[in-house]
Amino acid sequence: MTLADFEPKRPEVHFVPPMGWMNDPNGLVFFEGEYHLFYQFHPFSTVWGPMHWGHAVSRDLCHWQHLPIALAPNEEGACFSDSAVVDEHDVTGLFDGQPGLLAFYTGHRVLSDDPEDYQQSQCLAYSRDKGRTWQRYERNPILLPPGFKDFRDLKVVWHSTSQRWVMALACGQEIHFYISHNLLEWQFASAFGEGEGAHTQHPWECPDLFELPVEGAGPDEPETRWVLVVGIGATPDNPFGSFTQYFVGEFDGQRFSNDNAPGTVLMMDEGRDFYAVQSWSNTPGWQLALAWLNNWQYAPQSPEAGWRGTMSLPRELALCATHCGVRLRQRFARETYQDGRVMDTVSPRSALAVGEHCLALPGQAAVRGQLTLSLEARAKVALSLQQGYQQRLILAAGSADIALFYERQGSNSQPAFDEHFACDHAAGSVDGRTVTVEWWCDHGTLEMLVEGASEQRAITQVSFVDHVHQPVTLAVISGQVAIEAGAIQRRPE
Ligand code: FRU
Repeated sequence: MTLADFEPKRPEVHFVPPMGWMNDPNGLVFFEGEYHLFYQFHPFSTVWGPMHWGHAVSRDLCHWQHLPIALAPNEEGACFSDSAVVDEHDVTGLFDGQPGLLAFYTGHRVLSDDPEDYQQSQCLAYSRDKGRTWQRYERNPILLPPGFKDFRDLKVVWHSTSQRWVMALACGQEIHFYISHNLLEWQFASAFGEGEGAHTQHPWECPDLFELPVEGAGPDEPETRWVLVVGIGATPDNPFGSFTQYFVGEFDGQRFSNDNAPGTVLMMDEGRDFYAVQSWSNTPGWQLALAWLNNWQYAPQSPEAGWRGTMSLPRELALCATHCGVRLRQRFARETYQDGRVMDTVSPRSALAVGEHCLALPGQAAVRGQLTLSLEARAKVALSLQQGYQQRLILAAGSADIALFYERQGSNSQPAFDEHFACDHAAGSVDGRTVTVEWWCDHGTLEMLVEGASEQRAITQVSFVDHVHQPVTLAVISGQVAIEAGAIQRRPE
């Protein structure tokens, strides 16, 4: 069998559409006990097409109930990505004084036979019944493009200091900020992006904006910072395909200022498959986000089984002070830990011989694991979490840090569906000599969070292994390596 005709299995813990094609998460909002997940959806085909908003809800972020399509293409065009908010105090006047849900979406209208000849404008829909049915706002569009062809994907957030709503909207290769008191009329405030972070030939996409406390901030450092997340699509000038960068800085209600030098590029994930990230609006406590677990470079060719596209696990986001500045830290949402899994402990071992060590025997189900290793300088190990296609995480210790590489090249032993899929790539580094790797391996996906002394790297990959019944092995390639602790969890068989 080749990877090209491999038929993916439905994952156990990751969200996938009931059928058809799925890309970006949209309109993530928590309302009256339910997490809403809308998504870019083409229900009639496993290839991207006229975009609908698919819809699902969950009370625990683990079990999702599919609901009818929320928005379908009409004369405004297809419904591209955007966000949703709760209009708690009915500032729009659309909810008879009650709280209600607002979904902002990009109307994408193709103007001729050429699919590249399009206009994008911002539109609004509202729901008075907890998202079960949606009406389009009669004065749509609420924003027309001010001379930008690519004018799509917005995130609306409440800015409590200025007591106003703020919209971050991707316009060409910038993010434009708009402000509003009533969520209907929006006024341009500022633009951010020129000369900042990564730029390719592709427009910026899918912005997100949120404020978080800084864990570990010193007495003279600010207690909170703002994060601006920006997606960059796949173009031939960029060998990685689509990826997600973020900026840390200050947002005063009108303007975002970057804390880092303009040339700094912060990757939200060092893997190849974490795109179109969006955080949930209105969550009761922590900041939660989720991404489309794929890459525009090869997603359209990737194996399918009547459905194509997977979401990442929901992740909790935090900001931490590290030795190189304030950086994002991610954890798998706490809800994903609570489903009665059995736990195998990996015994500590002080000096591992060079060669391969089996840490857990094959099981029958999705696996969550955690392993803490100590590496002396110049030690090198390879962690195989899914051996089906020889994919490995390589950890190579330097004098004060541990460099990370992800090998997917082994996938070449099976003819891949796309030349870009089977690549090996650097995945950043973490500080210190002790590292904890936490991972979730499900059918078709592998998500890893690698934590050093103060830095963390997330590495997310689609994997297309034919099953998850793989042993977990650690190969010591060279040097002194110890297992400090470890645990592997599976659902009982
Ligand atoms: C990002 C994206 C968005 C757009 C949507 C269309 O993945 O290209 O910019 O709104 O997908 O499906």
